[in-house]
Amino acid sequence: MSTARAAVLSGIGSYLPPDRVTNDDLAQRLDTSDAWIRSRTGIAERRVIAPGAATSDLAVEAGQRALKSAAVDTVGAVVLATTTPDQPCPATAPQVAARLGLGRAPAFDVAAVCSGFVYGLASAAGLIAAGIADDVLLIAADAFTTIIDPEDRTTAVIFADGAGAVVLRAGDADEPGAIGPLVLGSDGELSHLIEVPAGGSRQRSTGQPAGPRDQYFRMQGRDTYRHAVNTMTATSAQAAERAGWQLADVDRFAAHQANARILDAVSERLGVPEERRLSNIERVGNTGAASLPLLLSEAAAQGDLAAGHRLLLTAFGGGLSWGATTLTWPELQAF
Ligand code: UT7
Repeated sequence: MSTARAAVLSGIGSYLPPDRVTNDDLAQRLDTSDAWIRSRTGIAERRVIAPGAATSDLAVEAGQRALKSAAVDTVGAVVLATTTPDQPCPATAPQVAARLGLGRAPAFDVAAVCSGFVYGLASAAGLIAAGIADDVLLIAADAFTTIIDPEDRTTAVIFADGAGAVVLRAGDADEPGAIGPLVLGSDGELSHLIEVPAGGSRQRSTGQPAGPRDQYFRMQGRDTYRHAVNTMTATSAQAAERAGWQLADVDRFAAHQANARILDAVSERLGVPEERRLSNIERVGNTGAASLPLLLSEAAAQGDLAAGHRLLLTAFGGGLSWGATTLTWPELQAF
């Protein structure tokens, strides 16, 4: 028997920037249509940051709400999952911690693209289990629209901006909110499916300027789609099994909001009926690492996710990288 301290969810909050972009707005500048985007992705609108704003601005808002939800004003560590840091160096988390008034708490970024929240849960749980922190603020924030190629209709219609955050505290593995066994994985042989080719050491060491579109995010959509469905299905089943749950025990299923068709395919394969699936992709699009905590926070605030619900959650993204875990939803107020 492990005597490690468990990480227990004690607060949750989220933030969306106010500027809305509808499918019709996108169709004015791209060769696409509201009908195509809705039928192929399930997305109707998304939010984007204001000119001059950055990921840290989203992260601070979501972080404040999670701290309020947990009724704490200090934490032992801050972890920020993001693919769109404010700058390549330094990490964004220390600035976020400072702006939240969290003093000199250890703070670092986690880079796991759309799996960032689940990898961040593992980091936070590790800090707690090791006794490095008694509580951790985990924020997942992405301003994906800042790396999207404005002329690439396959990615510009999907990706969007937003943030979600949770507070985790040390506790017992059998109490509500305790993060269950975490299943994580990666496959770097498929790193080319989701990438920003330029801006890192590989391109910079050539001494040549980057190609005009190489600073932008690229995704091979069809292959990514196939891996997303297969991997989120398998990883979810493993996480449920490690927790000792039957899939029929799952009251709520939350998958990374990549594409509504992916969510349907994964849920159908797992046998999760529609009324047990959480989804907000229609209103927010694919918000990268922020996707899961944003979904959970909104669902909890609306009452779709309530104390006692057995929740299975899974994410998948660039790397490739993926993860899943379980928890019984605790009594808390989401902001
Ligand atoms: O978050 C991390 C993980 N990301 C994902 O899991 C996303 C995975 N991929 C996807 O969600 C989908 O692959 C996309 C939504 C990106 C694309 O949907 P698809 O059904 O796989 O379309 P496709 O790429 O196979 O393209 C089908 C057709 C193509 O035209 P042709 O070659 O059949 O003539 C595309 O050029 O649809 C065309 N197309 C579009 N048409 C109108 C692609 N994007 C658009 C668009 N509007 N925005």
